[in-house]
Amino acid sequence: MPRDLLSVRDLTTRFFTQEGQVNAVEKVSFDVEEGEVLGIVGESGSGKSVTALSLVDLVEDPGRIVDGEINYRNSELAESASENAPDAVDGDFVDVRKLPERHRRALRGPDFATIFQDPASSLNPSLPVGEQIAEAVEVQRRASANPRSTRSRTQSYGLGKFLLGTALPGQGYLTEESKARAIELLELVGIPDPAERAEALPHEYSGGMLQRAMIAQALAGEPELLIADEPTTALDVTIQAQILDILGDIQEETGMTILLITHNLGVIARMCDRVGVMYAGEIVERGSLEDVFDNPVHPYTQGLLGSIPDLESAGGRLQPIEGNVPSLLDQEMEDRCYFADRCPNAMEECLEKPPEFPGPGSPDHAAKCYLADHPYEPEQALPEDYFDDESSDTTVGRDDGKDDASGEGVSADD
Ligand SMILES: Nc1ncnc2c1ncn2[C@@H]1O[C@H](COP(=O)(O)OP(=O)(O)OP(=O)(O)O)[C@@H](O)[C@H]1O
Ligand code: SF4
Ligand SMILES: [Mg+2]
Repeated sequence: MPRDLLSVRDLTTRFFTQEGQVNAVEKVSFDVEEGEVLGIVGESGSGKSVTALSLVDLVEDPGRIVDGEINYRNSELAESASENAPDAVDGDFVDVRKLPERHRRALRGPDFATIFQDPASSLNPSLPVGEQIAEAVEVQRRASANPRSTRSRTQSYGLGKFLLGTALPGQGYLTEESKARAIELLELVGIPDPAERAEALPHEYSGGMLQRAMIAQALAGEPELLIADEPTTALDVTIQAQILDILGDIQEETGMTILLITHNLGVIARMCDRVGVMYAGEIVERGSLEDVFDNPVHPYTQGLLGSIPDLESAGGRLQPIEGNVPSLLDQEMEDRCYFADRCPNAMEECLEKPPEFPGPGSPDHAAKCYLADHPYEPEQALPEDYFDDESSDTTVGRDDGKDDASGEGVSADD
């Protein structure tokens, strides 16, 4: 029986902007089982990245996690936290939101590693790539040697190296073992001449190579959970496939738990055991890959999947679902199902209040839609032109232009 490694409950993250409150992630709950690949899929602006950033406590101003639990199973952490943050502990689980800031920070790397879309933001431009990976190896070694010391995990290599280099010129801070491991990791992710490439700076790497290096850096910490947010989106299709193969092979060999975020349904089909579909800051359907792909309940999921000609083929761009994701500005969110104005099955009851997502203990395959409880009732259908008047002013895309119409929606393979 698989156990949950992570159990997220009612996670709610908002941005308090000049335009108003943005409900980026609203009461999101999901579990990640040990050893599985859980996919989160949804259009641009649906809250996928903010969910990932919330898990690793990297939401920046004007954003803030305002509610929810991030329960992480780790008996060693639970034991140490029971002394200084007993409220955070429930059996082997620790609600990381209730840990002091420095303890939360210490989880990044050895516990939760991240791969983001933009490798440049994760690597220091002025340090050789191999050294940065070796640093992650060192942090992991120190954490394993003394799992209850947060200090050993959080020491900054950059500062440590600077101080040691000043005090003891000519003496390296990184051990030969860590440097050798970094080269092994570069080889593992398919970087040719890894010993030589380890000496190069990030700008000397191509985009695909940098993405591989970032995976190597994430793996160096031997993380309990790898959070990969659009890990291949910026790359061309052939390199995407190579990198997904590497990730898939490593996952199979090590049984690593992965939370994979993407707007690419082909990537989900290829990599994931279970899926959560996000829309307007919420999970609107979840289930096994088969449940969600073969028997989708939510009209949004049906729309995403219906636009895929054939998942096995590396198809081109897809027809997006008509309309845009809502702005998520609180004052513009209608008190109704947020998908209603795009939903081909919208009924009168969908306008009365948003449907509930089934609570804990509900079946694995669940959807936040009235059609999960009863069949479509054509006599309750709204007139086709019902939303025509409001469509011009209530649905807006992201202000960075990455709305559906720009081709950044969910795709089978782009
Ligand atoms: N710094 C910020 N300030 C204000 N709003 C933000 C900020 N970052 C994200 N948001 C808003 O939060 C919502 C969720 O954004 P998020 O980046 O999580 O979407 P996403 O699903 O990852 O989209 P994409 O597929 O484009 O990466 C969007 O409405 C976005 O505009
Ligand atoms: S609740 Fe109603 S409007 Fe919303 S997705 Fe379901 S059928 Fe469509
Ligand atoms: Mg994103």
